[in-house]
Amino acid sequence: HKVDMNVDEITKGGYPHYMLKEIMEQPDSIFNSMRGRLLYEEGISKLGGLQGYEDRIVRSQRIIISACGTSWHAGLVGEYMLEEYAGIPVEVEYASEFRYRHPIIRPEDTVIFISQSGETADTLASLKEAKKKGALCLGVCNVVGSSIARESNAGVYIHAGPEIGVASTKAFTSQLVVLSLITLLLARKKNLSLIEGQNIIREMQSLPEKVKKILESNDQIEKIADEYMSCRNFLYLGRGYNFPVALEGALKLKEISYIHAEGYPAAEMKHGPIALIDENMPVVFIATKDAVYDKVISNIEEVKARKGRILAIVNEDDDYIEKLVDHVIRVPKTINMLQPILSVIPLQLLAYHVAVKRGLNVDQPRNLAKSVTVE
Ligand code: AGP
Repeated sequence: HKVDMNVDEITKGGYPHYMLKEIMEQPDSIFNSMRGRLLYEEGISKLGGLQGYEDRIVRSQRIIISACGTSWHAGLVGEYMLEEYAGIPVEVEYASEFRYRHPIIRPEDTVIFISQSGETADTLASLKEAKKKGALCLGVCNVVGSSIARESNAGVYIHAGPEIGVASTKAFTSQLVVLSLITLLLARKKNLSLIEGQNIIREMQSLPEKVKKILESNDQIEKIADEYMSCRNFLYLGRGYNFPVALEGALKLKEISYIHAEGYPAAEMKHGPIALIDENMPVVFIATKDAVYDKVISNIEEVKARKGRILAIVNEDDDYIEKLVDHVIRVPKTINMLQPILSVIPLQLLAYHVAVKRGLNVDQPRNLAKSVTVE
């Protein structure tokens, strides 16, 4: 009597691919990243892995974030949050550049290494370099006991659970959760008020429910993917906190669907990429209602005037953008610093469905490995 379900099918939990399973797991993985780490009464976060180092981090002259790929995109969001709330200058570096370009690293600096696997060769080498120069080195990893987690002085696990799909999805949103927790900790030890700290906590606690709502758009996104699956190029545009989301959306599409895609800060469009726009160029705008919303609308109008096809990620209550564009996907509103955690999810699903429709191996795309342990 043959059991016709193999181990692989069981661990995919009924989903056709790990990637879809991991996208769908995000209400839980996001919850797990913050579980036991939020102290509402005090309006602050508690991160066991940073104990004993908090004061040194708060006093750092500068924070440097070193990472690769999707983890680097998370770092870019981290830069915006840390500068806005903790008031510490932040630089984000590609680990591969950081390790070779003779960076100035001082003992008063804190360097955060973000890595899902904890084994990425470039990130690990940049960690060894920063350690040698006396900086405080923190790891933000998913894999417990991984090389980067072991080599760093202290750190925070993201607790997203195993990520098997080569395209990083739930690890990205959990990295953003942990960067928010670090931001909250530092901000409260500096100038952030109790009320503001509690507001951030409430918004963080409501993320899992909001993610569930976005995942209900899966069928709608699959239909949209039908219309775009044959395109040969894509542009992703966002501003502010959503600029790194544009980069991440483009990377997801490139990796698994082999469609050329570029992410740009929307306002950079006029400095070059706008020349690419015609009726065949799909443009994905991440246009949630934040401080730069009106500016993004003008960018949408510029693309429309050149007949570009537009898909926009907008907030639930937005009734303006849908009149301007071809398709909208709605996401709930949250505070600006947390919005990327929500706005990236439709882009993960879009890349997934486009790749599946093109008949590609989404879990193991060509030429890529889950963790890049070579230079
Ligand atoms: C993400 O989808 C990619 N597969 C890749 O860019 C990845 O994020 C990068 O290699 C870094 O990996 P790490 O987080 O394990 O260090």
